[in-house]
Amino acid sequence: MARIPQSFIDELMNRIDIVEVIDARVPLKKAGREYTACCPFHNEKTPSFFVSPAKQFYHCFGCGAHGTAIGFLMEYDHLAFPEAVEELARQAGLEVPREVRESSRPRPKDEPDLYALLARADRLYRNWLRQAPEAKRAVDYLKQRGLSGEIAAEYGLGFAPPGWENLRQALADSPRTEQALVTAGMLIPKDKGGAYDRFRDRIMFPIRDRRGRTIAFGGRILPDSSENGDKKPAKYLNSPETPLFHKGRELYGLYEARQALRDIPRLLVVEGYMDVVSLAQFGIRYAVATLGTATTAEHLHRLFRVAPEVVFCFDGDRAGREAAVRALENALPVMREGRQIRFMFLPEGEDPDTRIRTVGREAFEAEIGNSLTFSEFFFQHLEAAADTGTIDGRAQLVQRARPLLARMPPGVFRHLLLQQLGRLARLEAEELERLIAAPDKPARAAQAKRPAWHKAAPAPLSPVRVALMRLLHRPALASEAGDPARFTELALPGLDLLQEVIEILQKNPHLNTSALIERWRESKHFPHLEKLALWQPEVDDAEGLRAEFLGALARLDQQRLEHRYDRLLARSEQGRLNEEEKQELKTLFATLNRDKRLNPDGISE
Ligand code: UTP
Ligand code: MN
Repeated sequence: MARIPQSFIDELMNRIDIVEVIDARVPLKKAGREYTACCPFHNEKTPSFFVSPAKQFYHCFGCGAHGTAIGFLMEYDHLAFPEAVEELARQAGLEVPREVRESSRPRPKDEPDLYALLARADRLYRNWLRQAPEAKRAVDYLKQRGLSGEIAAEYGLGFAPPGWENLRQALADSPRTEQALVTAGMLIPKDKGGAYDRFRDRIMFPIRDRRGRTIAFGGRILPDSSENGDKKPAKYLNSPETPLFHKGRELYGLYEARQALRDIPRLLVVEGYMDVVSLAQFGIRYAVATLGTATTAEHLHRLFRVAPEVVFCFDGDRAGREAAVRALENALPVMREGRQIRFMFLPEGEDPDTRIRTVGREAFEAEIGNSLTFSEFFFQHLEAAADTGTIDGRAQLVQRARPLLARMPPGVFRHLLLQQLGRLARLEAEELERLIAAPDKPARAAQAKRPAWHKAAPAPLSPVRVALMRLLHRPALASEAGDPARFTELALPGLDLLQEVIEILQKNPHLNTSALIERWRESKHFPHLEKLALWQPEVDDAEGLRAEFLGALARLDQQRLEHRYDRLLARSEQGRLNEEEKQELKTLFATLNRDKRLNPDGISE
């Protein structure tokens, strides 16, 4: 799908009011400068859910849920990111622009249509599988793997012949088209200009979006391929991320499953292209594959829109168990009544393709039916490290369950898990609910009912952290930060992020906190920034905040000068300073008022 431009998210976050958005779903009461309610994400009788109109952010002290208005809709209405944006835009009376226009919108005349180009590539590969001089090897290979022409045609399998420019010569009739093929991931640009085919001597699997348009390809090397000389090429090659293709969103085989079945009661999630196609060959038409990534929450939303049950199929080895635990964690926020997830583990050394060939469809489907339910795997995972025969072990079990349960929406399903946990831990459900809902540390327990956000932790905070927290609380402070590039040589943890935040705010002085952190939604820094944004001062004293912010920067400046001083001094001891640097060292010496015993004039010449 096309990307939503950042500038639009900025505008949206400045236009909408998170208080209205949440109040329409969970009635809020005013409490000082904030609004409050009983948390919609866990069960509670007294409110610990707060919404800050200034930051446009919500936070629950009970279960730790927090986020922007977009994040709230994603959690509460179970929407994917673009849908949450659509919903907010609708309320604000805005239209969501797309950076790559859908085919329903007019495209500027001279911009090549990437969908149309990929459709042509798709046709070429399919024709080459039938007609290219070297195609017999590919056809033989597919036959040897047991695929019929029918299934190959349904999945649109094709062949990229050996050679560096089959596709380029067939499609790139102008420099502009060549550039578009690079953008679409089909050609790789050369250093000296021009471009060559990404996929060579490979069986081609088109990846289709929900409307059936080809948006990317996977290519499997042929076993006897001599392409690439002696370098061993990757067995599978995928299109890179492009404007049309985002790995974390797409599922290979989902379109084909929906074509083949009118009603899909369950979807089976496997690892590979060949697994999907091979299962289809045996009549299991409901398998899909993630594309070399872990299953994301976005994948799950998409899967549950199609079927009420999702079965993950993993290898029986350690890597498979680990992948299963990640899938379990990612699934927690989307679990609710009417949705079932199962975990299936294959015997070691097998994948779905080999398994179904060994046991056949009926036995394979019986294995799916016998696979672990969500709660079975959930408790198997929890109990793996805790001995429920001892009190310590049972306490540990509850501790391990807490962060997981906290990520689940309230409801019957969560309640059932809680009851079972109670039986294992030998605790009453109410007692357990209290333990689960209790804040992490005693320090936080005391704050839990106060209508304020996190206090600064007691440990001394690094200046980078302090600066980030104050900035997220009051973005306008960035205008007083000076040039953030001056800190570059410091290499402290988090400093890159601080620099980036300052730069963005200096360029866009009107961003509010939520608009600011939305820019990191796809980044590994997002959860960290969300947490820092929760910080709230005891009293909102503008001058005090400013002083703390400038104080933190001053500490960084001090560190920067000391760092520079140390470097110059080390080089001076090796006699490697030029005149200018010697002067700088003297100035630094005076500024930093360093070790008085050292005579700056005695610096070795
Ligand atoms: P596997 O290596 O398990 O291959 O990769 P497979 O599915 O059993 O394939 P066959 O049976 O040998 O043909 C599983 C998936 O991991 C990704 C692909 O998506 C593949 O389908 N993969 C694997 C890559 O992207 N690149 C690779 O080099 C290997
Ligand atoms: Mn395989």
